[in-house]
Amino acid sequence: MLKVDHLSVAYGGLTALSDICLEVRAGELVSVVGPNGAGKSTLFKAISGVVRAGSGSVTFEGEDILQTRPFQRAHAGIAHVPEGRHVFPAMSVQENLEMGAYALADARKREELFERIFALFPILAERRRQYAGTLSGGEQQMLAIGRGLASAPKLMMFDEPSMGLAPAVADTIFERIAQLHKEDGMTILLVEQRVAEAMENCDRGYVLQTGRIVMSGTYEELSSDDNVRRAYLGM
Ligand SMILES: Nc1ncnc2c1ncn2[C@@H]1O[C@H](COP(=O)(O)OP(=O)(O)OP(=O)(O)O)[C@@H](O)[C@H]1O
Ligand SMILES: [Mg+2]
Repeated sequence: MLKVDHLSVAYGGLTALSDICLEVRAGELVSVVGPNGAGKSTLFKAISGVVRAGSGSVTFEGEDILQTRPFQRAHAGIAHVPEGRHVFPAMSVQENLEMGAYALADARKREELFERIFALFPILAERRRQYAGTLSGGEQQMLAIGRGLASAPKLMMFDEPSMGLAPAVADTIFERIAQLHKEDGMTILLVEQRVAEAMENCDRGYVLQTGRIVMSGTYEELSSDDNVRRAYLGM
């Protein structure tokens, strides 16, 4: 579904990503892990079009999308839930979700999606009319995910959805992401600090270090690697 080929990104003269090759097939949950500053968010931004790539290619469903604008990539089916749970604070929960679904003409499909979002996150249904800015951190993250889902994406990218959340709330978020993968067959690309959780649920993973992919493989392969165990799994 998504293929990143020899992608490089620089900020000014500073290289943030070099020669990244990565693939996500339909229905897969793929994790990207790595230390702070490794370039994980930059990778997501290059895929969704928020930052420009210096070289390489990004293909989505067989189409080269690197020259397209972020909104065109969103229309093509890429939903990017960025780091730091961005919601529209002065809009209600319902309005935030409607913003996510704005390009969706099919009213039935929209209803189905909203039902699914409220089934995954019942608290959002309860707080439908509340201003998003007054939600708790966990609720805002749920809303950010819900808004991404409301666009009926083919690929969902989650950038550190557990960041800054209490462990129990983060667990709920992970469960819902795993549910989206297993029950809805959603294709997911996930960046996470909580590596053990991110890896456990994934089909495959990539380890990013200072802008390069240093390792990739299945959960079994990665978790049996001594360097990965020591650096990320605390073993
Ligand atoms: N807009 C920018 N301008 C200049 N440098 C940037 C910019 N955004 C990111 N960088 C740099 O690019 C590198 C990669 O940053 P990025 O945010 O992608 O890392 P990350 O892996 O997501 O880190 P974290 O785990 O802390 O979120 C860092 O050295 C960062 O300082
Ligand atoms: Mg980041």
